[in-house]
Amino acid sequence: MELTVKTHTLTYPIYIEEGCINNIKDHVNLNRKVMIITDENIPEEYIETVRKQCKEAFVYTSISGEDAKSLENYQYVCEYMLECQMSRADLVIAIGGGVIGDLSGFVAATYMRGIEFVNIPTTTLSQIDSSIGGKVAVNLGLTKNIIGAFYPPIAVFIDFQTLKSLPKRHYYNGLVEALKAGLIYDSSIFDLFETADIDDNLAEIIYKSLVMKKNVVEEDEFEMGIRKILNFGHTIGHGLESYFNLHDLLHGEAVALGMLCVVPDELKARMLAIYQKLNLPTNVSYEVNEVYHYIENDKKAKHGRISLIKVDEIGKAYIEDVELEEIRKLLEVNACQAH
Ligand SMILES: NC(=O)c1ccc[n+]([C@@H]2O[C@H](COP(=O)([O-])OP(=O)(O)OC[C@H]3O[C@@H](n4cnc5c(N)ncnc54)[C@H](O)[C@@H]3O)[C@@H](O)[C@H]2O)c1
Repeated sequence: MELTVKTHTLTYPIYIEEGCINNIKDHVNLNRKVMIITDENIPEEYIETVRKQCKEAFVYTSISGEDAKSLENYQYVCEYMLECQMSRADLVIAIGGGVIGDLSGFVAATYMRGIEFVNIPTTTLSQIDSSIGGKVAVNLGLTKNIIGAFYPPIAVFIDFQTLKSLPKRHYYNGLVEALKAGLIYDSSIFDLFETADIDDNLAEIIYKSLVMKKNVVEEDEFEMGIRKILNFGHTIGHGLESYFNLHDLLHGEAVALGMLCVVPDELKARMLAIYQKLNLPTNVSYEVNEVYHYIENDKKAKHGRISLIKVDEIGKAYIEDVELEEIRKLLEVNACQAH
């Protein structure tokens, strides 16, 4: 399967197939220096599969987790690229989850004012969500993604085989983004989660979610309008993530809780049944005022108001400009209901 994403600067393919990372050289020029950026948890065999197709490859193995998106780590990668005498005509290949994709993309966007970049996402979250859309970023201390760019890759390779080594908690965490796609855009994805075996239908779930994201980002590459619906569950989710120090609660887990806060009760009950299938934490307690404090400081909040994405009917999202105080009420109601 293949999808093509159009951006204002370039059009790039997403190859979606078991084993597609064996054939990168058929689609991308690897006859130049290649910097493979990966992390310590990615199995050596994936890196070797890619490395052996390149004329001259270097590997930067980062620490894993959100700390890999620090400015310090970004600097180490750039220093290593300079040491390897990489030029603007060379290539960066990311092999890893959203963290490695974001870091590598930002390195590619800025090293010598931009060099080409290929993304090989290896988590459900990155295959479904972060590998498409062109957003790349690093963190400034604890402030996530505050330094970044819109910088599309020249190609993305989604190989489901790479998910076999992914820890289960991360596997389910990423599927929340697919469930979100079902809730905001394509009710048939929600149906699959509700009625079908998720593992057996993984390829279809990922494909349909990518189609959703492609359609939305093509319509609104720079998030001036409809792309905002992708933030469904994220305003409260980010607040929870910050409250739990970005570590104790994974991104998808936090978004799942955030989505619960902004849907009607009948839908909430159906979503909770799916969360059980996905082993997502629902019994999470938090201090409302502290979570609210993080949301108040959200970069999207202005003059005491914020755009909140809501879903009343599966497959349809709408944007509502609300007072921040409304978010406090939602947090209060759901702090009790989540238990
Ligand atoms: N750019 C975007 O549009 C966008 C969208 C959503 C999220 N993000 C970013 O994505 C990041 C989260 O991504 P993530 O959930 O993929 O986390 P991650 O990259 O940290 O990966 C999760 C864990 O799984 C390990 N791992 C990855 N692939 C593996 C595999 N195949 N086998 C074994 N272990 C593997 C990693 O080492 C890590 O420990 C966040 O930094 C978030 O800000 C970006």
